[in-house]
Amino acid sequence: MPEITAQRYTWLKKQISLHDRHYYLQDDPLITDAQYDGLYRELISIEKEYPHWITPDSPSQKVSGYANQVFSAVEHGSPMLSLNNALSEEELVSFDRRCREGLGIEQIEYACELKFDGLAISLLYEKGILVRAATRGDGSVGENVTDNIRTIQQIPQRLQGTQTPERIEIRGEVFMSHEDFRLLNEQQKSLGAKEFANPRNAAAGSLRQLDPQITARRALSFFSYGIGELEPTGWLPTGHSELLDRYVTMGLPVCQDRVLARGFKELMVFFQSIKDRRDNLPFDIDGVVYKINAYALQNQLGYISRAPRFAIAHKFPPQEAMTRVMAIEVQVGRTGAITPVARLEPVFVGGVTLTNATLHNEDEINRKDVRVGDMVIVRRAGDVIPEVVRVILERREASSEIFQMPTNCPICQSQIERTLGETIARCTGGLFCPAQKMQAITHFAHRRAMNIDGLGEKLVAQLIEANLIYHPADLYRLGLNALVTLDRMDSKDKKLASNLLQAIENSKKTTLARLIFALGIRHVGETTAKDLAKYFGSIQAFIQAQEDDLLRVNDVGPVVTKSIQKFLAQAHNLEVIEQLIACGINPQEKASSEQVVTELFNKSFVLTGTLPTLSRDSAKALLEEAGAKVVGSVSKKTDFLLAGSDAGSKLEKAQELGIPVMTEQELLSILQRASVR
Ligand code: IVH
Repeated sequence: MPEITAQRYTWLKKQISLHDRHYYLQDDPLITDAQYDGLYRELISIEKEYPHWITPDSPSQKVSGYANQVFSAVEHGSPMLSLNNALSEEELVSFDRRCREGLGIEQIEYACELKFDGLAISLLYEKGILVRAATRGDGSVGENVTDNIRTIQQIPQRLQGTQTPERIEIRGEVFMSHEDFRLLNEQQKSLGAKEFANPRNAAAGSLRQLDPQITARRALSFFSYGIGELEPTGWLPTGHSELLDRYVTMGLPVCQDRVLARGFKELMVFFQSIKDRRDNLPFDIDGVVYKINAYALQNQLGYISRAPRFAIAHKFPPQEAMTRVMAIEVQVGRTGAITPVARLEPVFVGGVTLTNATLHNEDEINRKDVRVGDMVIVRRAGDVIPEVVRVILERREASSEIFQMPTNCPICQSQIERTLGETIARCTGGLFCPAQKMQAITHFAHRRAMNIDGLGEKLVAQLIEANLIYHPADLYRLGLNALVTLDRMDSKDKKLASNLLQAIENSKKTTLARLIFALGIRHVGETTAKDLAKYFGSIQAFIQAQEDDLLRVNDVGPVVTKSIQKFLAQAHNLEVIEQLIACGINPQEKASSEQVVTELFNKSFVLTGTLPTLSRDSAKALLEEAGAKVVGSVSKKTDFLLAGSDAGSKLEKAQELGIPVMTEQELLSILQRASVR
């Protein structure tokens, strides 16, 4: 048994050193923080059982981290240590117990802070002036990054106030906010440079730039949380919280999310409140830190190997985990949006077992170059949909192949289209695609579309579930006997079912504009549908529309034209329309050429006040029939204001802008003249 354990121990030491190199020197970790912590904990538990095996090169004997050869070395006056972790409530309870027993007191006051996910930095101020900045390095020797640190605006070159000590070493964390991380990666992308895996790596990479001008361009932030060298030592206040208060008066950035807590229960309250807010913070944290507040008590407890006994990091459950991509499939959303999804080897992360993670869209897959068989880091944070963050390229198999987006919808086989300039690819199946039918049919029945009273989302879902309808035309073939079998219908009282059938029947007497709107063509809203109806006059003319025709329609540009053409190019969609016609839905409208009143055509009207004879709605209808548009508010683009009595601010505004005001009488006589002609 010890033989196997010894082998494991040697393996762990090597692995941890390997991952330290990747994390600290290359800013390109191969495993998640949680996996690293797991390896480290296993190492410690073996060392507890076999203390005589411990060698000086064990990662437990040194603070992990590396001093890069390129920057000059800085020897820390006192070592920059790390913190032990508590991963559960039980581990926190035993930390508090150890502290109380060690000090022989009942209750301890702790300073609670956030655990920032960046990199530790030491700032040395002499006579209030920043003279040197260094990374943690291996804890004893760090890298001199003074020039780079000077480019961080939040870090003062000179401390404020007259109470500054002769020599003080401020310790804290340099990090990058989410927003700055996003901007940096966007910039890297546009330059064709490698994007950073996470804000921590981005901060580390930016700080280790040899050219301080590059660091200056990358927005870094800083929070102070500790102290190193100090002269005179008498300057030190009695507790940690007081020290941070003093830092604030000296112009140093200190995070405001900190409290003093007494006893274990209050620590848990702080932990929970920060955990709840974690996803809304503008930067990454991986837990909270508790430090015994009184320095006298801290000193009594002291240190054990590489960490203090008086402080602990209470970590959140990891949001990232590593797993394998078993397959990449595409999902079809309710609007036809195609989303590629990675099917994963099940992995436990953020409190649940994940089997799928989104890959967002084609550009994202290409950018991350995710392939079937890859080992990937997946992330599940808060309410955000779990996603594939990055690929571990070192573990890619040589035989892997670049993923190709399918050209046809996996559900209905219609073509998948991606319009130039759009990130989302869509299934062109429209009315026919089963993945889209629920939304398509609900939209079809909507009050402002075919206006089928009583046919909402829930009932549509039931009809689809019971295989009674596949597309909108099926609604017109529904019979009473089939309907009463549904859960929501009462088989004895057939009233609900017959009401629905009546509503469906009534919807046949609709307008062409409503029918066109009901088809759910992308970019064809109510107004465009009205314009199309006015222009084409019948559904038969509409489905034969050519590009030139469409472009001639009021307010229809190239985007709408393309979308209509795509819709009409799908045989399935035409089939549904033909079935609708066969069911007796065939509204006609006078085509616009016969109807247009030249003085009013394409003119923009605003209505205000009370008209002598016409209601607002009928005035609007008359204007629209004549080819005018009616809009809600007066602007420079308004052609006429149709005003009645008691007109208010709209009239004033129209007068201000010099827009002609028309009365009902004038409008009626224009219409009269047009009809006589
Ligand atoms: S105190 C002796 N306070 O966590 C303890 N560290 O594993 C010195 N960190 O190297 C650290 N937030 O980079 C302290 N509020 C905080 C912190 C914090 C983040 C980092 C720091 C340190 C590591 C310890």
